[in-house]
Formats: sequence, structure tokens, C-alpha cells
Amino acid sequence: MENRAQWGTRLGFILAAVGSAIGLGNIWRFPATAYESGGGAFFIPYLIALLTAGIPLLILEFSLGHKYRGSAPLTFSRLSKKTEWLGWWAVFVSFVISTYYAAIIAWAIMYSYFAFGQKWGADTETFLYDFLGITAEGVEPGKAGVFVPEVLIPLLIVWAVVLFVLFKGVRKGIEVANRIFIPALVVIFLIIVLRAVTLEGAAEGLTAFFSPDFSKIADPSVWVAAYGQIFFSLSIAFAIMITYSSYLDKKSDITGNAFIVGFGNSSFELLAGIGVFAALGYLAGQLGEPVQEVVAGGVGLAFVIFPLIINEFPGMNGLFGFLFFASLVLAGMSSLISIVETYVAGFSEKFNISRSKAVLFGGGLATLVSLLFATQGGLFFLDAADYFINQFGVAFIGLVEVVVVVWFLRKLGDLQDHANSVSSIKLGGWWKASLGVITPIVLGYMMFGLFKLNLL
Ligand code: PHE
Ligand code: NA
Repeated sequence: MENRAQWGTRLGFILAAVGSAIGLGNIWRFPATAYESGGGAFFIPYLIALLTAGIPLLILEFSLGHKYRGSAPLTFSRLSKKTEWLGWWAVFVSFVISTYYAAIIAWAIMYSYFAFGQKWGADTETFLYDFLGITAEGVEPGKAGVFVPEVLIPLLIVWAVVLFVLFKGVRKGIEVANRIFIPALVVIFLIIVLRAVTLEGAAEGLTAFFSPDFSKIADPSVWVAAYGQIFFSLSIAFAIMITYSSYLDKKSDITGNAFIVGFGNSSFELLAGIGVFAALGYLAGQLGEPVQEVVAGGVGLAFVIFPLIINEFPGMNGLFGFLFFASLVLAGMSSLISIVETYVAGFSEKFNISRSKAVLFGGGLATLVSLLFATQGGLFFLDAADYFINQFGVAFIGLVEVVVVVWFLRKLGDLQDHANSVSSIKLGGWWKASLGVITPIVLGYMMFGLFKLNLL
């Protein structure tokens, strides 16, 4: 407890937490989700989810980490001996996510290189299949398990960078990396968005994105989509925010930080929605198709549709293609660092080993597992991992976390006092009702199979 590593500055912590939050979820998940869930009308459930679950849970996790000063397993064991397993469950889910998140960043690295000269050609879908060593039908017989060198090499680079950063520690590693990555990401992304909105056809794309379909608000699945987006996007219930806040100074404005991180992430999400749909509007115009025909999310948006947009780009295609994939790499790396830190911190505290040993052991293990995704057929492992996270990750951990803290251990009052003793904004009924009632109901509903959260 005494010699616990600490962030150098408040801004350092905020950049790291925002860096974790801003990720692939903002760039490739939010735009299509919002579009399909009522367009402009989606902002109503989205904002409600942010204010009744996202920020309240962020405050809860910041308070937990700050008060108990441990990685997620240690924090939960200090909360009550009986809940240490919950911390490990969150760490395990993070471990699984990290193995495939790294692979996607590796693809983005290769694509940032392919962007020069548009090496993906005109049929970007077939190119992606070839790149990953698969066909539309699946893996070629006898080829499953064979490494794809074009994925393997950047994947090893990704892990080398992440492990180096974590090896350097909280202040000299994580904080420094985010101080570089996040400003660079914001600048690059602003350049892309400004260019995108001035493209011909951008207005049609933005109209498609923002036109509200208020009838959707009556659809429960739209509310679930909003809460799901908020959870994933804010990196809540993944052990991350607990770990990061355990490195905060004793006097830290917990509640204020949570609002900054929550709104910072959402602002980036909105920016991404604008950029992506402006570009989709342009592509639709060039292809002479309606915007809805080119809307996609996830892997399809980043690695099939965006290359098409870059092919059509009116000048400096290579540069803009590079910038787009570089932004995925930067956003992804800052999230990946935070995910891996959950088990580095967890292992180091549990087994009483140094940070370097924990990096070597935890990071080494994750690197080995993630090699699966660098083989032909890796895409199918990725689907399986994503399915697992859907079923046993996000909603489950979030639900157990709030129910245990609020209803079983009855610690909400303590945590409220703790947060209020250091924060400028004082918590009251809003926070308690959000965590005690609204969040458990929504998460319970999400849990019981009424909904599938597609993360990729
Ligand atoms: N919040 C990140 C995003 O929006 C994703 C993430 C999820 C990062 C879980 C870490 C853990 O992409
Ligand atoms: Na996010």
C-alpha cells in the first residue's frame, strides 16, 4: 500500500482513462449502432444510459480503486474476502479480450501500410479474406493453424510495444504512452473528420445518421443497445477502471474525473459518428447507391468499407488511408495497454512478484494465446472469443458488481462518503438510484438472454 505506484498528474490519469475508453468501440461500433437504433433519436436512450449507468458506475469503480488501492482482485478481496473471485473473473475476461484486440490492431498496422497505393485493390472483401488466409466458405482444408506472416509480425510488434510500456510502469510507461497517443489520436482524427465532412455527399451521410426515428424509442432492444454501448465504450466492468484509479493520489476529484472521462469518451464517439457517416455518404454518392447500402460496423466497416472509401478518395488517398488506420492503431493501443495492466497488476499483487516478472508472465501468456488469431482461420477464433465475452462478460460482471456492492455488502453509503470526501460534485439520490435500481434492472434484462451485444 505504502509504495504504490502513482500517476504523475491528474491529467495523466484522465488521459489514461480516456485512452482506455476511446477505442474500436467508438470508431467502428458506435456509428452503426446509433444508425440502426433510431439515428438522431438514439441520443435519448444513449444519454440516459450515460447518466444512469455509465457515469455512476465509473464513479463506483473509481471510488473502489481509490479507496482500496488495489488491482481488481485485491480491491474486491479488501471489500470482502468473499468477492475476490469477481475481480479475477473481470481480469480473466480482460485477458481474453486482450488476445483478440491485439490481433485487430495488428491488422490495422498492416492496412495502414496497404493504404499507400491501395494494395487492397477494387475487391476489398476478397482481399480481406486472402489477407486472413480464409475463403468465404471458411478455412481451406489443411490450412487451419498455419501462421499468416502478415498478421504474425505486426502482432508481435503490438505485444512488444505494450509489454515495454507496462514494463516501464504507471508513470513512466502508461502515462507517458497516453500523453503521446491521445493527443496524436485527437489531432489525426480531427483532420480526417474535417476532410470527411467537406466531401461531396457528406450531407446525405449525415442526414442518414442524424434523422431521428422516434418510433424506435419504444423498442426495448434499442435501450439495451444504448446501455451495452455505454458499458463497452467506457471500459466498465473489465477491472480496468478499478486498477487505474488505484494509482490515484489520495486527494483526487473522483466524481469530477468520472464526468470528464464519460463526456470525453462520448464526444469522441459523436465525432466518430460524424466522420464515418460523412465518409459513407461520399462513398454512396460515388457508387450511386443509397447510404443505407454502404452502412457497416466492426470489421466490415474498417477493413472492407473504409478501403473502398479510400479508393474513391479525391486525392491524397494514401495519406488519408494511412491516417485512418493509424487512428485505429492509436485508439486500440491505449485501450490494449489498459486491458493488459489489469492482469499485470493482478498477478503482481497476488503472487507478490515484481512488475517486470508480472509483465513477462502475464504478457507472455497473452502473447502466446493471441498467436491463435495470427493463423489461418483466426477470424473464427475471434468470433468465438467475442461470443464468450458477450455471454459471460460485460453484463454479467456489471450486474454482479452492483448487486454485490449495493445489496449484499451494503457498501454504497461508505463509497458515497468516500467519493464525497474528495470530490467537488457531491453524490446523492441520483447516484444511489442509478446503481441501486436502474443499472441492476437493465443489466439483469440484458443478462437473461433477451439480447446479444455484438462487440465486433
Ligand atoms: N472501451 C474500449 C472501446 O470503446 C474497448 C474496451 C473494452 C477496452 C474493454 C478495454 C476493455 O473500444
Ligand atoms: Na469507447
